[in-house]
Amino acid sequence: MLQKAYPLIGRTLIAPHTHSFSIDCPDMAALARPGQFVHVRLPGFLLRRPISVCQITQDGLRIVVEERGAGTEEMARLGSGDLIDLLGPLGNGFLTEAPHRRAVLVGGGIGTPPLLPLAEHYHKAEVFLGFRSADRAILTEDFEAAGATVTLATEDGSAGHHGYVTEPLEQHLARHGADVLYACGPEPMLKAVQALAAKYHVTAYLSLEARMACGVGACLGCAVPILTAEGVVYRHVCKDGPVFPAEEVVL
Ligand SMILES: Cc1cc2nc3c(=O)[nH]c(=O)nc-3n(C[C@H](O)[C@H](O)[C@H](O)COP(=O)(O)OP(=O)(O)OC[C@H]3O[C@@H](n4cnc5c(N)ncnc54)[C@H](O)[C@@H]3O)c2cc1C
Ligand code: FES
Repeated sequence: MLQKAYPLIGRTLIAPHTHSFSIDCPDMAALARPGQFVHVRLPGFLLRRPISVCQITQDGLRIVVEERGAGTEEMARLGSGDLIDLLGPLGNGFLTEAPHRRAVLVGGGIGTPPLLPLAEHYHKAEVFLGFRSADRAILTEDFEAAGATVTLATEDGSAGHHGYVTEPLEQHLARHGADVLYACGPEPMLKAVQALAAKYHVTAYLSLEARMACGVGACLGCAVPILTAEGVVYRHVCKDGPVFPAEEVVL
């Protein structure tokens, strides 16, 4: 785990209030795995903000940030040449299988970024992405460039399937099945994915969100209930997660 101020080498607005940042951090990138996150310290804020790793290259990391509150609004003011203080990579990341396995990735809104490194790992992933509307859709071309087939769903019907992303997902699982499924997004979507994974007997992993403080397992800021052989226990999303086997998650 590293903690350093790294230079930003680019920032692009990819949807309303949603920014893609490229960070020059080859040493941190060399340690990062799909599904991990960086904990970002911003000037004037006591607590860091967790942001998923969206792309890992030899030169550094890419992160995608949606402005949600004061911290992410402050992040949106950063530009090329500014320094960004990162602690990471943190969390357990996704367990991956052999690249030829039939992987299905399901992303909802700002839960989409951590799935991109998985599409780069699996040669021909089936990717289902859900957004409120067409203008909020992000990263679809990046998934296609990684060799994935993308099915888009929007709640208002302005692009792709009109409705929830879990509807075309179910059609796909019913027709073709899958070897492994990964999902990140809002809780109702994760709940539906969890039920579909059980119905179609697919090994599945869910990446969870929780309010975080320390990010390294030292406080109880991010505890969530997890089902184990001994019953329900509390685990840290930051250290034991953010990725958990779908059947263990209590939603
Ligand atoms: C493991 C992990 C990975 C994440 N990856 C990304 C990412 O790649 N891109 C991205 O844009 N965001 C990501 N987030 C969410 C991001 O951390 C929060 O949006 C951010 O911390 C909000 O900070 P803020 O100061 O802008 O908002 P605040 O002022 O702290 O809060 C603004 C609003 O957002 C809600 N909120 C704040 N934090 C969370 C949270 N963690 N979960 C749910 N609601 C929250 C608050 O209840 C409030 O309504 C991730 C969160 C986790 C736990
Ligand atoms: S944020 Fe402190 S234990 Fe997870």
